[in-house]
Amino acid sequence: MDRILIEGGSSLSGEIPISGAKNACLALMPAALLTRQPLTLTNAPFLSDINTMRELLASLGCEVAGLQNNRVITIAADKITNHVADYNIVRKMRASILVLGPLLARERRAIVSLPGGCAIGARPVDIHLRALKLMGAKLELKEGYIFAEAKKGLNAIDYTFPTVSVGATENIIMAATLADGESVLRNCALEPEIKDLCKCLIGMGAKIKGEGSSTLIIEGVNELNGNTHSVIADRIELGTYMLAPAISGGEVVLTGGNLGLVDSFSSMLVRTGANVSICDKGITVKGAENGINPVNISTEPYPGFPTDLQAQMMALLTLSNGTSILEENIFENRFMHAPELNRMGANILVEGGTAKVVGVKSLKGAPVMATDLRASISLILAALAAKGQTVISRVYHLDRGYENVSAKLSACGAKIKRLSS
Ligand code: UD1
Repeated sequence: MDRILIEGGSSLSGEIPISGAKNACLALMPAALLTRQPLTLTNAPFLSDINTMRELLASLGCEVAGLQNNRVITIAADKITNHVADYNIVRKMRASILVLGPLLARERRAIVSLPGGCAIGARPVDIHLRALKLMGAKLELKEGYIFAEAKKGLNAIDYTFPTVSVGATENIIMAATLADGESVLRNCALEPEIKDLCKCLIGMGAKIKGEGSSTLIIEGVNELNGNTHSVIADRIELGTYMLAPAISGGEVVLTGGNLGLVDSFSSMLVRTGANVSICDKGITVKGAENGINPVNISTEPYPGFPTDLQAQMMALLTLSNGTSILEENIFENRFMHAPELNRMGANILVEGGTAKVVGVKSLKGAPVMATDLRASISLILAALAAKGQTVISRVYHLDRGYENVSAKLSACGAKIKRLSS
């Protein structure tokens, strides 16, 4: 297994381009199942999760073309020849559940492996299933699979999501585009990736009103068309790289990102002492000149502070000149980076959903292990600032969601290299 070796202590200077959003692309790709015509996505990121979704769609009979490194993917679901989303693919990536709504809506049947728990929490799919049942689907859970059928097609629903869920909102929006009648979906997640999905679906002929708000009104249509859609920039990748000069010093320009999509994160970063400004090329972030201030953080659904940036922010706060309290409210087990950061000399105490981070003067390089996607990049950020060498193993987690990490950071002067096994 590959590892990443970082020699910490270099101040950063240069530009980092921000890629297309993984989470947007993972919802847009299954939307291709809703139409017989091709859907082309541009600005697609080059990531292993995207490859997993390609593999899943191909297994259902879709033709998936386009070179990932050209950032263009074309999916033609002219014929769907298989209705089973196999465990061996679904277990690799929970977002595979997003084929359920589209398959049921168009094909009236689907057999999708239950995704199961994952490192950061139990992550059930009960909300997805409850809404589909109300739309008239017959659902049976057996042998680890969801057997779903809607012989007469799906009906529209007036539904209030009991919890804000990104995936459930996406699945039900897609299902509603081909359902019979007008659906009203309330308490929808507000994440920008959902607005991007709605924009693409509207371009395919879907009748959606209220995109970007918590109430969506969707008038089902008989058929959707193909489309060409550009995937929005990755706000989590943007936030992550905004933290790089904040933790290791220096000044970096992020190109292609959208600062408006990371407001809550960016204002916290400024409170830690970093300088954030807009320049001609993009967003400039400069590390704090007089030490890093502690801040308290509470993760929330969008537009609150994103859970997907909690681990990275924690890495920065390990070096603050005070005590920060981080509350994780979205996933129950999302502090696995804390013990690894402590191995590098951090002082973090986790109790339930709260982490108390007492700032230390410096971190020291150590062998550490990536446990999930965002945890792995938080270790990279910490290693950039640590004294000496850090070797991060299990970097396959990183490949799921960060494109060319080593190249992007070394272009700014970081001493980082990937060691192939
Ligand atoms: C998506 C993102 C992930 C991000 C998360 C929260 C993708 C591919 N992934 O994950 O990066 O961290 O949003 O912003 O877009 N829940 C239930 N029942 C359900 C569905 C969810 O109890 O049926 C719970 C989850 O366990 C979790 C909370 O609701 O505690 C939010 O999860 P959700 O928004 O659904 O996350 P994902 O869509 O899986």
